[in-house]
Amino acid sequence: MNQTWSRGAALRTPFHDDSCWRGDDLAVRSGWRFELSESMRTDLVRAACEAFSDEGDPTVEREHLPWTPPEWLDDWLKAIVQSISTIGVAWATGLPVDQLGERRSARLYRAMGERMGQALTQNSRCEFLSPVFNEGVRFGYDSTSASQGRGYRSQAQLNHHVDPTDVVALLCIRKARSGGLSSIVSAAAVWNAMLAECPEHLPVLEAGFPYDRKGEEGPGERPVTEPIPVFGRSGQRLDCRYARSYIIGAAGRLDQPLSAAQIAALDAFDAIASRPGMAFRMPFEPGDIQWLDNLSVLHGRTAFEDDPDPSRGRMLLRLWLQMGDHPRWAGLPSAMRWAYARFGLLGRRADEGIPDQWAQPVERSDAREPIVRVDPAPAGVRPRLEMASELPPELTGEACWTAAQWADPTTWVELLSPAEINEIEHAARAWGDRDLLTLRAEHFPLPQFRSRIERAGHHLLEGRGFVLWRGLPVARWGRTLSQVAFYGLGQHLGPARPQNAQGQLLGEVRDLGLKSSDPSVRIYQTAERQSFHTDSCDVVGLLCLAQARQGGESALVSSQTLWNEIRRARPDLAAALLEPLATDRRGEVAPGERSFFMIPVFNWHQGRMSAIYHRPYIESAQRFPDAPRLSARQIEALDLLDQRAHDPAIHFLMRLEPGDIQWVHNHTLFHDRMAFEDWPELERRRHLLRLWLAPFEARPLPDVFAERYGCVEPGRRGGVMAGDRSSGQV
Ligand SMILES: [Fe+2]
Ligand SMILES: [Fe+2]
Repeated sequence: MNQTWSRGAALRTPFHDDSCWRGDDLAVRSGWRFELSESMRTDLVRAACEAFSDEGDPTVEREHLPWTPPEWLDDWLKAIVQSISTIGVAWATGLPVDQLGERRSARLYRAMGERMGQALTQNSRCEFLSPVFNEGVRFGYDSTSASQGRGYRSQAQLNHHVDPTDVVALLCIRKARSGGLSSIVSAAAVWNAMLAECPEHLPVLEAGFPYDRKGEEGPGERPVTEPIPVFGRSGQRLDCRYARSYIIGAAGRLDQPLSAAQIAALDAFDAIASRPGMAFRMPFEPGDIQWLDNLSVLHGRTAFEDDPDPSRGRMLLRLWLQMGDHPRWAGLPSAMRWAYARFGLLGRRADEGIPDQWAQPVERSDAREPIVRVDPAPAGVRPRLEMASELPPELTGEACWTAAQWADPTTWVELLSPAEINEIEHAARAWGDRDLLTLRAEHFPLPQFRSRIERAGHHLLEGRGFVLWRGLPVARWGRTLSQVAFYGLGQHLGPARPQNAQGQLLGEVRDLGLKSSDPSVRIYQTAERQSFHTDSCDVVGLLCLAQARQGGESALVSSQTLWNEIRRARPDLAAALLEPLATDRRGEVAPGERSFFMIPVFNWHQGRMSAIYHRPYIESAQRFPDAPRLSARQIEALDLLDQRAHDPAIHFLMRLEPGDIQWVHNHTLFHDRMAFEDWPELERRRHLLRLWLAPFEARPLPDVFAERYGCVEPGRRGGVMAGDRSSGQV
């Protein structure tokens, strides 16, 4: 057994073995796809019907199932193991799920898996066969299914990661209505790219990270693991271990935030793994089985939409296999072997038995978050444990604030100095009345003010998410000069994005006497109270020219804090907010687009949580017959989100004065405006100018934002795309 393990310089060479492929190449490669022929299917149906029942719940069965497999089966499985151990992946099609029924197919699948390796437990329910699905208990086997929402299963995109076992297998019982593609990427290909492009990150990844056990620790075990290296080499092959949400979870639990170097290394890893062409994406059809070597291949999943009928929702069955003394997996060094073969309650084999006390939930010493909880179950029914195993972590950082932090306005109101105002005025007068569309930062020199802009950019994108500048003499300047000044300042933060289908870059916010009950009216055109929402861009800016007679305060709330609150109180509803919801485009529809788009409220991507929210638009999207219906659980989740946002202990109000500029980061904050009563005289009425900006330094966003933002490239994204969406331009 090879127990040595190279790190450092000895490891730093590219790999060229069969497991090193790009997604584009894998698509055209042979030797890893296996189709069951008609006669093989007949044999399997006969063998399975003889041995296995189509009743009961196969996911809770712990015994080996006795059966007599067809003679050819072991040779077929050997070829599959050969593919897994070299290429890292095997894909079989044609398991006759429709003929066998779901329960019998599940048993056949597990029995086949147990001829390849040992099935391991996957959660603190000690399931050997774990259902992967969207919501509630949809397999129909468990009488506790009335307690819907238990068991974290979402429709959200899952980032690339490995599971803590030798081989993971997934059988598709039912597929999603759309989406839900399996995305796999070769660890060696990611390694080679990092070695070539950013080798400075490799020592950090080789040093490794502790992993959160997410409540799955056994009695006497610590809630986090020892550091587990991301990359190592045993023999001629690269070994990879990576699950970012567990790394971040451990950092939170240990109260040891990741260093900038660690975050940069993880970001580089994720960015390369999700680069176009790197990953291979494959749709699951019923009867498909995918096997992956967790040392060679990372897996993820694209977001999906389910059939509204829960009994027809996407359902996969997962097996974790330990491959015994197979040379690919036997030589693993103890650091990695320990971590993944004995991941707390996970990774026990059937022949080891399950200690009674382990079948009970673990009492947690740290009461911050209910990761494992038990539903009150009717007598005689096995308690069903909730696992938040893939829920993004609790968020930390400056953007997680509550109202009390801003009670003292001197901590956030920035009064501009006369010298700064002079500089801005000088730049604005130099521009004169030329077309604003052609004004760029270089046309608007601000040598002194520049440092304040840089601080603002940091507060917005990395910090608390808002900035208030006070004191622009807008009355003296008049409308045109104020417009130029505001637009010029904005250009220093990022390019402006169009705010409506007409491509307007500098918006006017005033009461046009319209009512939001008209579905073609956007709320900023009315005097009604808005609701907490985000605008469709990275940063929104408002310059106040005139304030209403009464009301019209601006409210801000941290969506990061809301995520934490909901995650703590109701992890099941937090999961619902990761599911894509139909959102109305309010008539601003580009040719070829549907009138709504699908996006989750909370989007976890590369270690950051970005929220996008506008409840009235989610509700009005229900007027479209082809929009997926909101489930009761989704509505409950949105209600909780609004309720927490409206808590005065969480949000805070500010009233903009004429000459104030407010900047807000939409990915971390929601904003709202109170109803107002305006002046009778037209010229005194509330009047604000609005900018939507796309800073080049903005955070990475997942692809799903392209639906709303046109593209996800910083500097070019956001705004209302009613022109050519593919270019992100109007
Ligand atoms: Fe996984
Ligand atoms: Fe807004």
